[in-house]
Amino acid sequence: MTHLIEVNNVSKVLSRRRVLDAVSFNVPKFSITGFIGPNGAGKTTLIRILTGLISFQGDVKLNRVPISNKTEALREVGAMVETPVFSLYMTGYQNLYALAMLDSSMSKQERKKRIAEVLELVGLTGREHHKVKGYSLGMKQRLGIAQALLNHPDLLILDEPTNGLDPMGIKEIRDIILKLNRERGVTIFVSSHLLGELEKICDHFIVIQEGKIVKQGSKESILIEGGTEHLEDAFLQLMFGGQ
Ligand SMILES: Nc1ncnc2c1ncn2[C@@H]1O[C@H](COP(=O)(O)OP(=O)(O)OP(=O)(O)O)[C@@H](O)[C@H]1O
Ligand SMILES: [Mg+2]
Repeated sequence: MTHLIEVNNVSKVLSRRRVLDAVSFNVPKFSITGFIGPNGAGKTTLIRILTGLISFQGDVKLNRVPISNKTEALREVGAMVETPVFSLYMTGYQNLYALAMLDSSMSKQERKKRIAEVLELVGLTGREHHKVKGYSLGMKQRLGIAQALLNHPDLLILDEPTNGLDPMGIKEIRDIILKLNRERGVTIFVSSHLLGELEKICDHFIVIQEGKIVKQGSKESILIEGGTEHLEDAFLQLMFGGQ
């Protein structure tokens, strides 16, 4: 099985606290892998490592390329870490165009075509010429995903993309993730502190608590191990030993 993310024995100390402790896991190609853990467990820290934003101890490979070779490792990766950053006084389209300009390999026509594609993928077609200032939180999250999709990634890394959204906004993000995975073959690594938000769409799970991986595997293997048909029961079993 090909793994698009390989994390081996990764640790990170921040202000003398070990916020990641010998973390190891793999993310299979074509999977939707949920990265679950309570607030402060270390999800964002790990995602910042995966996206080459901070230093760490251990080994990380993306698409078999060590993250130390950052440009090559991140070539086919799109990411949205915490709150996406935009110019609020520019339109959604202008924000995407400014980002697309950074890729000098694309012609003007190609840029326009790709922007139209990503707007369609995230359901913002028709709203792209409005200023971002007037966008709802859900629209901003979707524009963030559109930004991450510009360079045709094989792997999309999303840090709590549904945080703060209402049920409709959460459903929209879920549908986008499913569509990208099923129709475009994009591997998705998505974090949340709520199992309920991810259990419907993920086929693999990695559970982190206080900087340590406490569970990982396919949905089936976690259910079988927990001796239940319900993911929530399996996780409760895991955390409280069924007490
Ligand atoms: N710059 C920093 N200095 C010291 N401690 C930090 C720093 N950044 C994060 N931490 C601590 O590291 C731990 C992990 O934080 P992180 O943001 O990775 O958690 P998280 O799982 O993303 O949480 P959340 O669900 O709240 O987003 C937390 O205890 C946090 O307080
Ligand atoms: Mg976080």
